[in-house]
Amino acid sequence: MTTRSLLILPGDGIGPEVMAEVRKVIDWLGAKRDLAFEVSEDLVGGCAYDKHGTPLHDDTMAKAQEVDAVLLGAVGGPKYDDLDFSVKPERGLLRLRKEMDLFANLRPAQCFDALADFSSLKRDVVSGLDIMIVRELTSGVYFGEPRGIFEEGNERVGINTQRYTESEIDRVARAAFDLAMKRGKKLCSMEKANVMESGILWREVVTRVGADYPEVELSHMYADAGAMQLTRWPKQFDVIVTDNLFGDLLSDLAAMLTGSLGMLPSASLGAPMENGRPKALYEPVHGSAPDIAGQGKANPIACILSFAMALRYSFDLGEEAARVEGAVEAVLAKGLRTADLLGEEGVSPVSTAEMGDAVIAELD
Ligand code: NAI
Ligand code: MG
Repeated sequence: MTTRSLLILPGDGIGPEVMAEVRKVIDWLGAKRDLAFEVSEDLVGGCAYDKHGTPLHDDTMAKAQEVDAVLLGAVGGPKYDDLDFSVKPERGLLRLRKEMDLFANLRPAQCFDALADFSSLKRDVVSGLDIMIVRELTSGVYFGEPRGIFEEGNERVGINTQRYTESEIDRVARAAFDLAMKRGKKLCSMEKANVMESGILWREVVTRVGADYPEVELSHMYADAGAMQLTRWPKQFDVIVTDNLFGDLLSDLAAMLTGSLGMLPSASLGAPMENGRPKALYEPVHGSAPDIAGQGKANPIACILSFAMALRYSFDLGEEAARVEGAVEAVLAKGLRTADLLGEEGVSPVSTAEMGDAVIAELD
């Protein structure tokens, strides 16, 4: 029997509220689809600090290293704003990302038809959109040495260094090709090989890795042209792979093609474990939303879609992932809206739990 282990870290603020709705989906899969998950739950962020004096206990870190996937809600809140930097809630999240060595950050941009009019682009351009940006997360210009602000003659100079080794490019390229194999078998790599040596190496290594994936159609684009193409006709893309800096910009750009923060899932993947599954952390893009926490107003869809990504990318349950995404799509099509998605007149918002229940009813 296949085992599927999952560590759930609801965190702070709306984290536990949205995670409760994911729990319903997990229970549904167990009861109705005979898909059992070994679920354990633990603390991260401010709540972990309150209990242990640290935003991530060593035992929790060790558990995260063992499971097939970690699902995180959100961390932080005003209560913790004055804490020392070393124990701030965000440090818990950063420690997870660093010690699990999650080098590939996945940010999908998916447009649900019912929300297509929310986009700043024309309906026709975004309707049906489903692309995935893979951003290298642990190297590049945010980490390269030398860095700093130095005296030079009679003025100062600010320096950051874009630096990529072949193995760093190789592993993120493989992660992107693996994803492309599970999706539309099309990968576009973006860099600036026209003006940057790191881009020349990037293009060379990605092309070399591509030889191992003959089924995937590989193309290359300069990142600035890529930004233009993403707003002109985003549906030309399936998977995009790019470095840390360009990925930071392009993933925010692509995500906003489709709408609200309460809708956006993400995943961060690391090296394959012994069972072949990648180390993985799934989390909504949004934070702990202290302004609405505890009021049942939070949109649980970003967290539910993060779990759908886990189904697809950690557990090879692409069909079940599509089922969950389809249920979300159907619920939105019926007009259900949490407060963050309101815009139409005469629609009153549903609560976090009502949205979760509606997704379950649709799954049924
Ligand atoms: P935020 O994402 O928590 O909230 C921004 C705005 O979006 C708020 O008005 C909030 O009500 C709304 N919003 C966010 N998620 C929503 C959802 N699911 N449904 C409905 N509305 C939603 O970002 P903010 O306010 O900058 O940060 C709040 C706290 O969260 C801070 O302590 C920050 O450090 C932390 N944070 C944590 C992150 C994480 O855990 N990955 C990411 C970003 C911020
Ligand atoms: Mg950013």
